[in-house]
Amino acid sequence: MKRLLPTAALALSLCTTATIAAEPAQVRLTVSTEAAGPRIEPEVYGHFVEHLGTGVYGGLWVGPESKIPNTRGWRNDVVEALRRLEVPVMRWPGGCFADDYDWRDGIGDPAKRPVRLNRWWGGVPETNRVGTHEFMDLAEMLGSETYIAANMGSMSPRDASQWLEYMTSDSKSSLAEERRRNGRDRPWKVKYMGVGNESWGCGGNMRPEYQADLHNRYATYLQGTQRVASGDGQQDDHLVEVLMERSGAHMDAFSLHYYTMAGPWEDKGPATGFGADRWAKELQSALGIEKRIVAVSNIMDKHDPKKRIALYVDEWGTWHAPDPGTNPGFLQQQNTLRDALVAALTFNVFHRHTERVKMANIAQMVNVLQAMALTDGPRMTLTPTYHAFDLYKPFRGAVPLTAKVEAPRWHQGEVELPAVDVSAARTADGGTVLALVNLDPERPARVQTNLSGAVSGRILTAGAMDAHNTFAQPNALVPAPYSAGTKGAPLALELPPKSIVVVAVSQ
Ligand code: AHR
Repeated sequence: MKRLLPTAALALSLCTTATIAAEPAQVRLTVSTEAAGPRIEPEVYGHFVEHLGTGVYGGLWVGPESKIPNTRGWRNDVVEALRRLEVPVMRWPGGCFADDYDWRDGIGDPAKRPVRLNRWWGGVPETNRVGTHEFMDLAEMLGSETYIAANMGSMSPRDASQWLEYMTSDSKSSLAEERRRNGRDRPWKVKYMGVGNESWGCGGNMRPEYQADLHNRYATYLQGTQRVASGDGQQDDHLVEVLMERSGAHMDAFSLHYYTMAGPWEDKGPATGFGADRWAKELQSALGIEKRIVAVSNIMDKHDPKKRIALYVDEWGTWHAPDPGTNPGFLQQQNTLRDALVAALTFNVFHRHTERVKMANIAQMVNVLQAMALTDGPRMTLTPTYHAFDLYKPFRGAVPLTAKVEAPRWHQGEVELPAVDVSAARTADGGTVLALVNLDPERPARVQTNLSGAVSGRILTAGAMDAHNTFAQPNALVPAPYSAGTKGAPLALELPPKSIVVVAVSQ
């Protein structure tokens, strides 16, 4: 039950809760024609793929011999869905896995590749059937840039630099020739290379001071790619200070990890079957990413006032308790309307910080954490988060506009949140695109704008907070057409409770 404001509490004595809930929140939206920052880089809509659970094996890769339709081992249903999403960049192979990965295990004759244990994720055998060549094949099928996470935790700088040379050299060097013998003549492009991952934790449990020295050493040997320093994931300002001060000259980007949870780590709550309290805590946690981006950016500004170094949020998304009956080391979770709202709110935050945030990678692409698709053997379903990514496509490359939102706050338990969050941007063809999120699970909103004209686009909403798709009902929650307004007239939009609306404005 919501904690009601005094006026609403008075009204409750006169009417029913249902009547109050039906009253729309009155919201005022003022969109400026001035740019609020540089363009929204398409790569903020990037993805993260780790050798974790069924994130690669089963979810994306089934092998060329599988009965599940595939292209050179990659399952067609998932690849087709991801193609439609236009994946701009993929980070691989980890995560924690990256700092325990030897790239040499994943090249050459698949039958001769060693089997290792996936230490971080369930201790299951890692066959290395998917290695560099296979991953690059997927990236080419999807038309995606590649972001390779190098191992700084347990291998040498020489290993990292040789991997880069193996992938990208067009020379007659032994490494380039070895790549050719393994079936790839032309070099691949590796636009980004991560220098370790979570070096404060699974990437080596280092002190920031030690990590900074190590980063500089590894980065020295990684040339011709954008070097991403393993960054903050624990709200550790000291780490950001140390890395920026001591390693700023040797990095092109600094990374931030931020996971959204509906409670503390030990009580994250379930992916489905939650109540209004967990709904509100989850969305509050999602909006909390803005505070962290601002805090990290402020420290970066001190050391890099010209903003040469980008901030890559290279792991973000919801982290719920694993689905009952699944291997807890596989981080498998159902994905609901709540996850879609988390994605939408997070995109809106990224759009407000384009001066630093140039890339982001949702964790993770398939079957792990906040996934785009869930699979079970031959079955596949797209998630509400997939649809949020799809809805927001018009924002890629667009220029953000200042959107001032005057909205009432709503309360749930100890949580207080705005009713509505909005992002606005100018697209390349000069059009205006709006994304509006109604966070309140019970109350609709009426948004009066300073714009005139009509809008058309799509809406994602449902009756239940945990509405989701299943293998039996893959279209239970999909976007529906949405339109409002009349050309030339003042524009107002009606938002149902718990909804995401993305529309283009025609004046
Ligand atoms: O995405 C799951 C894990 O979360 C990653 O491997 C790690 O970097 C982070 O802690």
